[in-house]
Amino acid sequence: MPSLYRLASQRRLPPGFCVVGTSRDGISDQRFRSMMHDAVAQFLEDSPLDEQLWPDFARNLYCVSGDFNDRQLYGSIAQKLDELKQRNLLFYLATPPSFFETIVAGLGEANLAREEDHAWRRIVIEKPFGRDLESARCLNQAVHRVFAEPQIYRIDHYLGKETVQNILAFRFANGIFEPVWNRRFVNHVQITAAETIGVEGRGGYYQEAGALRDMIQSHLLQVTATIAMEPPAAFDPETVRDERARLLRAIKIMTADEVRENAVAGQYRGFRQEKDVPPDSMTETYAAVALQIENWRWAGVPFYLRTGKKLMRHVTDIAIQFNDAPLAMFGPGTAETAHPNLLIVRIQPEEGISLRFLSKQPGSGMRLRPVSMDFNYGASFGERGPAAYETLLLDAMAGDPTLYTREDMVEASWRAVQPILDEWSHRKFDFPNYEPGSWGPKEADQMLARRGHQWRNS
Ligand code: BG6
Repeated sequence: MPSLYRLASQRRLPPGFCVVGTSRDGISDQRFRSMMHDAVAQFLEDSPLDEQLWPDFARNLYCVSGDFNDRQLYGSIAQKLDELKQRNLLFYLATPPSFFETIVAGLGEANLAREEDHAWRRIVIEKPFGRDLESARCLNQAVHRVFAEPQIYRIDHYLGKETVQNILAFRFANGIFEPVWNRRFVNHVQITAAETIGVEGRGGYYQEAGALRDMIQSHLLQVTATIAMEPPAAFDPETVRDERARLLRAIKIMTADEVRENAVAGQYRGFRQEKDVPPDSMTETYAAVALQIENWRWAGVPFYLRTGKKLMRHVTDIAIQFNDAPLAMFGPGTAETAHPNLLIVRIQPEEGISLRFLSKQPGSGMRLRPVSMDFNYGASFGERGPAAYETLLLDAMAGDPTLYTREDMVEASWRAVQPILDEWSHRKFDFPNYEPGSWGPKEADQMLARRGHQWRNS
């Protein structure tokens, strides 16, 4: 809703745009509008709600009542849309995943999914899309009974983030990076999504999901695909998604033994005391995995992915560690000058890209120090980029699925994490194994140390 409001305030929504919400509690349009007013005011991040603009936006918000399990709800939605003379429809499912199938079937029965007379009908489905490979396949089949694949927009908000999109520009609009973007020059890659927050009242959801499902299967694998995919032959939705899908399919499927070597679970002290979390919970609030991508570009280059709640810093970034110079011509390096060439794509909170390299310190002798070339979004463009949901919702309305996850991509990413899910489902972990405010469990450090690597904990 904040994203829609922002789009409206920039006059980027199509004429006649309106939102029809649904509620179990018989909320009137007026009440819905005032609830949305308060919610948008609360969640707008960097500018206050404009009370002059609000009434124009709010007058197009409506609410119908009913239960997802009750067919009548879909009839009421159809009737409301009819009254409002709406033909192009985007259904947006930010509901508990257990309702996805029921809602899709209900929309189908009410004939709301059929595209006719040049009217489009699309559906945006929030994550999690399934809870494992099998359930994701079943869900794909169920949605396909009603909507065709081109009508389905599976959202992964990480793909809408400006810096994630910028990876494509950085890699494919410039000629100088692709030649070194491979196993001959890259030593390893680290992708970190660290949060300082805990589960923030979502204990019930999180207890069932865990960090691997919540962040790695979706967001971090999509980021991996973007950073590692082959150059698409054209910038059109299917060509770009083909390359993302191909990359996801190239991730090595681990055996149970390999999972024990290449995946670490953690749980912060205090998680078991969160609301709706059992006192003996074996759900991970931290996950780190070492992936291998089995293709000619990346064979032998580890991709380390990690994410966790209640870590020391809120930071999401990608660090590409390049190989060292073949010769230590200036004498042995200090720890500070070891492995100098690092390219960091900063996704949040700051957005930008930096390249670290060694430089001569001023003065006599050849003393070296790492320095960095920095690109910072704010400094270069001076304006706030759109929030991920602004980009994504507008794309869905415009019929551009480039940044949405296709059926084969969602299945490939579940396939990649499935052996870890299987192995962890029966493991008795020694939880809690990390303190809130730390960088996670020591096993994650050991996993990298075994390969002579170290996490960047800036
Ligand atoms: C969501 C997860 O998809 O992404 C949350 O369910 C997580 O657990 C969030 O906190 C992180 O998103 P962002 O954009 O704040 O990095």
